[in-house]
Amino acid sequence: RQIIAHDELESTNDLAKKLLADGAEEGTLVLADTQTRGKGRLGRSWFSEKGTGLYFSLILKPALPREQHPSLTLMAAVATVEALQPFSPHPITLKWPNDILLNQRKLGGILSEQVLAPGDTVSGVVVGIGINVNQTRFPEELAAVATSLYIETREQPERSDIFSFIINYLYKYYQILLEDGASPILSRWRQNSRMLGSSILLRQGAETHTGVAIDLDAAGRLVVRLNSGEVRAFDGGEVTL
Ligand code: BTN
Repeated sequence: RQIIAHDELESTNDLAKKLLADGAEEGTLVLADTQTRGKGRLGRSWFSEKGTGLYFSLILKPALPREQHPSLTLMAAVATVEALQPFSPHPITLKWPNDILLNQRKLGGILSEQVLAPGDTVSGVVVGIGINVNQTRFPEELAAVATSLYIETREQPERSDIFSFIINYLYKYYQILLEDGASPILSRWRQNSRMLGSSILLRQGAETHTGVAIDLDAAGRLVVRLNSGEVRAFDGGEVTL
């Protein structure tokens, strides 16, 4: 499998999408030491300090119907959290849809983007992963919400060790997803999350919903029992615990 490494990129997701559109092979990885326009979900930017974090994107061309693509993000979240766990004495957990948390703060995130071919068929998916490894501090606006492995454990792991753990887990869980479907991924996701059964607030655009997160459904949507009593599945948004 090919790994394309750059000192600096605007965004590993953007280069991976371009390569995918140009016919790159499945499994190709794009890695950067820093990003000048790292992207987060919901139009946010991703803090991509040089040399301390891991910023990479995986090109996938799954033979999965489009409605099952959210399971790729959950697959990547499960692979990442299980690969990171040995590096922390405290539990690393998942917050739907794709936040990786350590001690209530954000250790990493995943941004999946579809690439459409002419005629609106999906030519593939780019799964972008950002992990805060050795940052010693964050810009003021992030300090209350972000953390790094170093900040929480006072250990400075080699980024290359973490990277190889994560990619091994990614290839393993991707195979499981293709061969056995989403249900083994969903059950591991549940095991690695602390949010099911908790009261949450979910913001989707201008709407805010409150209720209890009950489960993930087969498509990876978050099932919430709203305070009104209605049970509804959400396919996106921002959850506050
Ligand atoms: C989020 O939690 O909002 C998702 C963050 C995803 C960040 C990664 S870093 C590598 C890849 N390239 C990007 O521009 N974003 C993702």
